[in-house]
Amino acid sequence: MNDGRKLTNEVGAPIPDNENSITAGPRGPVMMQDVWLLEKMAHFNREVIPERRMHAKGWGAYGTFTCTHDISQWTKAKVLQKDKKTDIFLRFSTVAGERGAADCERDIRGVAVKFYTEEGNWDLVGNNTPTFFIRDVHNFTGLNRAVKRDPHTGMRSAQNNWDFWTMLPESFHQRTITMSDRGIPASFRNMHFYGEHAYSFYNEKNERVWCKFHFITQQGIKCLSDEEAMKINGMDREYHGHDLYDAIARKDYPKWTMYVQIMSEEQAKNHYENPFDITKIWRHKEFPLHEVGVLELNRWPENYFAEVEQAAFTPAHVVPGIGFSPDRFLQGRLFAYGDAQRYRLGVNYNEIPVNKAKCEVNEYHRDGYMRVDGNYGAMPAYTPNSYQYWMPSPEVAEPPLDLDGAMWRFDPKDDPTDDCFRDGGDLYRLMSEEKRQILIDNTARNMNGVTDNIKYRHAVHCLKADEEYGTRMAKALMLDMNEVRRLAKLDNAGLIAATMPKQCM
Ligand code: HEM
Repeated sequence: MNDGRKLTNEVGAPIPDNENSITAGPRGPVMMQDVWLLEKMAHFNREVIPERRMHAKGWGAYGTFTCTHDISQWTKAKVLQKDKKTDIFLRFSTVAGERGAADCERDIRGVAVKFYTEEGNWDLVGNNTPTFFIRDVHNFTGLNRAVKRDPHTGMRSAQNNWDFWTMLPESFHQRTITMSDRGIPASFRNMHFYGEHAYSFYNEKNERVWCKFHFITQQGIKCLSDEEAMKINGMDREYHGHDLYDAIARKDYPKWTMYVQIMSEEQAKNHYENPFDITKIWRHKEFPLHEVGVLELNRWPENYFAEVEQAAFTPAHVVPGIGFSPDRFLQGRLFAYGDAQRYRLGVNYNEIPVNKAKCEVNEYHRDGYMRVDGNYGAMPAYTPNSYQYWMPSPEVAEPPLDLDGAMWRFDPKDDPTDDCFRDGGDLYRLMSEEKRQILIDNTARNMNGVTDNIKYRHAVHCLKADEEYGTRMAKALMLDMNEVRRLAKLDNAGLIAATMPKQCM
């Protein structure tokens, strides 16, 4: 009988000795029959699972989401009905660094929230920026290869990073945010986060609107300078993890207010640019924020590996009343996450307690590695069947969406309404003088060692966004302003051709 303190092997048998191997004589070799030793070593060898391909370093916490406002005119999602309280699990992450990376790097922060709703899990997988670097899934692998390690040197490379970014003018706004004072948050508690994409809501009458999610910190925005972050990274690589842990331990639970922006289908059709382009914002003046509820973090997980490392989020998990949008970038994500998790955690990753829905789950998926929940016992495994297991619910179908146009590889840069520099320029003009100087200094430091052809590309983009931004950036990067102006007259293809490294010409 085990009183709860006895050491056992993997199937419950007590272990007589956990320090001394069985040997042939007091000074002889180890015996194969020390099976407890073999079990320990074999298990240990298999304890590392693949890290997330990006967003590898992260911290998680449990909490609640309380819906405080009535938005039933737009969505029938039960989690978003006034006064509803729902359990959540949230994971913060950095993007480019590996699992052992320091917390306070200049990078965007991932914020993934799992709402355990009564209608199934809803995962909102966002970032601390309202837009993204790129807008077509084809460029996603490139983005990650450019910000992660160089295949030759095995090191991170500012050259690769800036070469990639400046080849794609649509990344300009996100470059400006990442290089601004907000590029290194003082803590996870002190930053906003966003769903970024346009999603959709539909109500009880099956009427659709497009929406964007915003989570505004109630702790206020605080950021770190490069210098502060450098010191912190040298002293405490888990700085943001510690901050969150300590806040929860002292019951100073961090909170964010959830808001939504709403755009009608009619407004989307008449919008002056593509509202489904993730590199563009919806202006608050035109699409005001509507308050929805409060998200609070109040419980640290018991076991990091079980609950944080094995957590799996995917934008594909939505619930009735919340849907996707024609955003081509979102469409790509709907495939990528489940596919990554079937590889990283195994096909039954939704059986892992942190990922498991709190409502009944009735699918026909069976078998596979680590199927540990009884596998639906003797229930029918095929469909359709005569036993009424389990029937679809046609009433939850989202309204049909009219599409138009030919099937083709459309390049958004060919769209005459596409302006890659307006949002970044507006952001610059909103900044105080102090913030502008921080942005310029951070960028110049970050581009240290990058070749001039790439620096010219960035300076040209800044100039196209704002005369002052361009002039100051060119000066900080020690570029010839006349050359920046000459290059700024070229279109994107011309600029790229004129700024190719000499050996490629
Ligand atoms: C086509 C574009 C994208 C693709 C293909 C993609 C793919 C992935 C993949 C494969 C993972 C690892 C998943 C895992 O192993 O569990 C991941 C993680 C993540 N992605 Fe993306 N991603 C894309 C864009 C975005 C965007 C636009 C956002 C924010 C709006 C975002 C936010 C995140 C976050 C927060 C995580 C970490 C989730 C966690 O904490 O477990 N990603 N992404």
